[in-house]
Amino acid sequence: MKRLFIIFLMILLMISTIVVWSYSYTLSHEEAYVPVSNITESFVIPSEEGVFERSKYALEYAEMPIDKNHERSLKTYYNNRAFYGAPPSIPHSVEERDMGANSCLKCHENGGYVNKYNAYSPVTPHPEKINCRQCHVPKKSDNLFVATNWSRTKGPSIGNNALVTSPPIIPHQIQMRENCLSCHAGPSAPEEIRTTHPTRINCRQCHVINDKEIKDIGVFTRK
Ligand code: HEC
Ligand code: HEC
Ligand code: HEC
Ligand code: HEC
Repeated sequence: MKRLFIIFLMILLMISTIVVWSYSYTLSHEEAYVPVSNITESFVIPSEEGVFERSKYALEYAEMPIDKNHERSLKTYYNNRAFYGAPPSIPHSVEERDMGANSCLKCHENGGYVNKYNAYSPVTPHPEKINCRQCHVPKKSDNLFVATNWSRTKGPSIGNNALVTSPPIIPHQIQMRENCLSCHAGPSAPEEIRTTHPTRINCRQCHVINDKEIKDIGVFTRK
């Protein structure tokens, strides 16, 4: 009887060992594995959230063909701005009743080719600022009413790589430019700054902000 009891106890101990061991073994596996679907926005540094705003289109950007006949360059880009950083004027006709998001975002939220204007619509970096014409005014003429000595301030220079193949620094400020892909990818991006790698969505992992004073822009002085 005593012997049977000891055998029974041993078997019980063995079973519980196996149960406890296999339980903790599977548990340790579960913890090591974080399914991708559980990764939420909170993994993103809040101040860098804008970088990922259009990243869901990264693969599409990579596959978009380059339309050489309708490309923009930095020259045409700057020409449509009164000074560096100024809101560009609206180069096409607008109906007086079209004030903002409802009409403008049709074309400017995701871009695309517009037959009427024979151009790709630039993607807005700030679709949330819905009162578009508070800042953007239609361009009515190419001439000035009065001759002036106003000269446009230039943008900072590009191509500031430390070494030949290292990532160039971001020569501009980030305020209102958080959403990198809106300007740096797709057919409406000026050709000089269209990125070859829209799929590397964490732009600021490699490109750092120029924390030095931006000299090229210069200081505005009244002539
Ligand atoms: C039918 C599509 C369409 C609609 C609607 C539209 N746009 Fe455009 N927009 C374009 C296209 C295409 C261009 C590029 C024109 C070019 O490069 O010649 C453009 C250019 C611009 C630019 C110049 C951007 C730059 O980088 O120089 C601004 C600013 C602009 N639009 C603002 C607006 C605003 C504000 C509205 C609403 C009142 C609006 N657009 C409605 C298609 C549209
Ligand atoms: C508070 C002022 C303000 C409002 C409102 C605003 N914008 Fe802008 N927008 C700007 C400024 C400033 C720039 C130039 C940004 C820069 O150069 O960094 C700009 C740039 C742009 C550009 C050119 C992006 C590029 O390629 O450089 C487009 C297109 C544009 N805005 C469209 C819109 C549309 C569409 C709306 C309405 C949904 C809108 N904006 C509302 C101030 C504004
Ligand atoms: C409003 C449009 C716009 C947005 C948004 C924007 N950029 Fe730019 N970027 C430019 C322009 C225009 C230039 C050319 C220099 C200038 O005018 O500031 C440039 C230049 C650069 C360059 C230098 C390229 C070279 O060849 O040297 C880098 C790198 C860059 N940007 C990275 C970024 C990153 C990263 C972001 C997102 C945090 C970003 N940009 C957001 C318009 C933009
Ligand atoms: C893994 C690092 C890395 C990431 C992430 C990255 N870049 Fe780059 N980027 C580089 C390197 C390296 C170069 C220089 C390439 C060369 O000189 O051949 C470069 C060059 C550029 C240029 C100059 C034009 C060109 O393509 O050569 C622009 C503009 C640019 N990157 C924008 C971006 C934007 C926008 C993002 C986010 C969508 C981004 N980069 C993400 C490493 C990176």
